[in-house]
Amino acid sequence: MKYIAIVGRQPEISIAEIEALFGGIKRINSRVVGFESEKLPDIDRLGGSLKIGQKIEGPTVAYMMGLPEGKITLGVSDYSKNATQKTATMEALKLKKILIRHGRSVRVVSNRDAVLSTATTLHNGMSGKNERKVELLRVNNNEWYKVVGVQDIDAYSKRDQARPARDAKVGMLPPKLAQILINLCGRLPKDAVVLDPFCGTGVVLQEAMLMGQKAYGTDINERMIEYSERNLAHYGFTDYRLAVGDATRYQWQQPIDAVACEGYLGKPFSRAPSEIEIKTQRNECGAIFMGFLKNLSGQIQSGTPVTVAMPAWLGHDGWYERLFLPKTIDEIDNMGYNVSNKSREGLLYYREGQAVARDIIILRKK
Ligand SMILES: C[S@@+](CC[C@H](N)C(=O)[O-])C[C@H]1O[C@@H](n2cnc3c(N)ncnc32)[C@H](O)[C@@H]1O
Repeated sequence: MKYIAIVGRQPEISIAEIEALFGGIKRINSRVVGFESEKLPDIDRLGGSLKIGQKIEGPTVAYMMGLPEGKITLGVSDYSKNATQKTATMEALKLKKILIRHGRSVRVVSNRDAVLSTATTLHNGMSGKNERKVELLRVNNNEWYKVVGVQDIDAYSKRDQARPARDAKVGMLPPKLAQILINLCGRLPKDAVVLDPFCGTGVVLQEAMLMGQKAYGTDINERMIEYSERNLAHYGFTDYRLAVGDATRYQWQQPIDAVACEGYLGKPFSRAPSEIEIKTQRNECGAIFMGFLKNLSGQIQSGTPVTVAMPAWLGHDGWYERLFLPKTIDEIDNMGYNVSNKSREGLLYYREGQAVARDIIILRKK
């Protein structure tokens, strides 16, 4: 079955997530990526996608006429080249006119832009669950998709805020990004053990368990392990493993099927750090990351995926200086890992102006 994903704020990360889970992708434009899946993709497990569309085979009018009896709610998002609020509205009204002529009653959700926001789609019930509430996505002139999933922004914020143990100092990994880190490990069998050796307050562990995996968390700080414990208990989870341990020397228990973590990001800065500060951070964080990867390498089987979020610091030229330099790639390769994303830009996750970005590295044990 043919699907598209409307990608999020950091398109390259969203695309990498889709590719890791579904294989071959087709970049349609900067906001849309095509892929195939036998099963309906579950948007609640895809941290990087805003909407999922399924291809409408045949004429769109025929599809709409086949909807169950009763009033139809119709939204149109136009992702084609040169789309505007006007082109989207025109398409919606054209369709409405035809449907009315055929005796259907239709309410059109009005467009403020060429595309409807995730919130508009969600709050008008057009997430694909109600057959008569439909959002159509136009990708080019005759290619139409229907929305079969929309990112549940309300559920993500609830998950983020409901956690009883929080720590401003270690920062909170957004649940969406935790899902992405796990998904970048590829398709994992149910009950696969996901290890987070820098588990902090346990966001990766929580998301892994919500996705049907088993969670194993370690952290150097005993307080963090208590926080993870409280947060996982909050969800009623019982089947997980937690321990205090330094990731550069700890001996983990087997089995380990995948490793996903946001590692130590160094000092939190509220402004771009100076060159000297970056150098200090580079040494401090580099020693921990390299020590950890070296220690892990001997403890995981060939083929085990490892995704790590490392720091990158906002430089005074407005771009990020990565911890992950070409010479680091060679060192990691020598430790026994294949490095998947070697691009110079990397997969950076950040908010505008954020002093420390997360740089996502995807590895696989040789
Ligand atoms: C950025 S935080 C991770 C936050 C976590 N993702 C969360 O959602 O709460 C980094 C964590 O690494 C831990 N840490 C620092 N050095 C470590 C080491 N050598 N071994 C294990 N954990 C370490 C810190 O205690 C901290 O909890």
